[in-house]
Amino acid sequence: MDKLVIEGGVKLKGEVTISGAKNAVLPILAATLLTDDACIIKGVPDLRDTNTMIRILRSLGKSADLEKGIVSISTLKKTGYVADYKLVSTMRASFCVLGPLLGKLKKAKVSLPGGCVIGVRPVDLHLKGIKALGADINIESGYVIAKAQELKGNHIYLGGVYGSSVLATDNVMMAAVLANGKTVIESAACEPEVVDLAEFLVKMGAKIKGQGTPIIEIEGVKRLHGATHTIIPDRIEAGTMILAALITRGDILIKNVSYKHLGALIDRLEEAGAGLVKTDNSMHVRYKNELKAINVTTLPYPGFPTDMQAQMMSLMSVTPGISVITEKIYPDRFMHVAELNRMGAHIQREGPHAIVEGIKELSGAPVMASDLRASACLALAGLAAKGKTSISRIYHLERGYENIEEKLEKLGAKVWREKE
Ligand code: UD1
Repeated sequence: MDKLVIEGGVKLKGEVTISGAKNAVLPILAATLLTDDACIIKGVPDLRDTNTMIRILRSLGKSADLEKGIVSISTLKKTGYVADYKLVSTMRASFCVLGPLLGKLKKAKVSLPGGCVIGVRPVDLHLKGIKALGADINIESGYVIAKAQELKGNHIYLGGVYGSSVLATDNVMMAAVLANGKTVIESAACEPEVVDLAEFLVKMGAKIKGQGTPIIEIEGVKRLHGATHTIIPDRIEAGTMILAALITRGDILIKNVSYKHLGALIDRLEEAGAGLVKTDNSMHVRYKNELKAINVTTLPYPGFPTDMQAQMMSLMSVTPGISVITEKIYPDRFMHVAELNRMGAHIQREGPHAIVEGIKELSGAPVMASDLRASACLALAGLAAKGKTSISRIYHLERGYENIEEKLEKLGAKVWREKE
């Protein structure tokens, strides 16, 4: 296993280009199972998770290859209906092959996704939605087995205890596009990645309205055809780069960013006093003056994304004053608190809140990445800290940030990889 070593204290400067969105590309690749025709997906980030989804598609009978940001998919043999434990357990998003397999084949056997360090992540909403379309569901030996004579459109309320669910909305939408009649998903997730998936499905011939709002309406069609689609920019990578500029007191031009997807983050940063200049599809972030502490609460989109919570905590840990960070999506997503405190931060966790007392400077330390966004948080902390930080289990970072070392190096960061 590799660890990432960062010699902190360099002000990042220069230009960086954001890759395609991980959370959009994974369900969109799964959606290609809905047709036997060829599909071309562009702007695909070369990530560990993307490659896992490509392996799943291959295991189900597709030919799929990622080359220079483009995945070309075609059908090699009759689509299989069993998504194997080994592949599904490594990545929760692989569970979103359930909807398209059921939609296309009227049967699917998909391993339940494994546990996750950011807290309990149930699939009850996925199953509720699929059942409402008329599928019988059984759980056997760790697999969900779903079968239906036919899928029938229905009115489905998909809100859960923590609000809407991104992948449950994706799964139900992908099953419903080939169902008979009309489906209405109420309390649907409004995330831009759900909209991107809906737009791909529409290009394939699906009839979908209301994507991006809490009510999505789907009129089932008989068959879908192949399509070509370009993935939206990754708003979480863009947000992480904005914070990298601010935490290192640097000056970065961020290209291929959709700032309309970053409303909640921009609002919080403007409140903190950050100078952000937006142009068409780029953003200039220049540290001008000391920021002030702000409170942040994560919520479903368009609220502040839980996937930016850990990185925001790094910034607040070196911003004078007290900030309260409240996690309303995954109340246990605070593994990074102890690691930031190892670097000298003053953070106290109280249930779903973290109380952050900003200090002048973090000091480099050996720390451990527990999940994807926690590793990004530690990388930001390491970039700002005095001295050397080594982050072990860096493979988490590779799940979601394409060429992150090269990108940071180009901005002047002193960063390298070492064997553990
Ligand atoms: C997606 C994102 C992930 C992000 C999360 C929340 C992908 C590949 N991943 O994950 O990066 O952190 O959205 O924005 O897009 N829940 C239930 N029952 C369910 C499903 C979810 O109670 O059946 C709960 C979850 O435990 C959580 C909340 O709903 O508290 C939101 O989770 P959800 O939106 O489903 O997350 P994912 O789609 O898995």
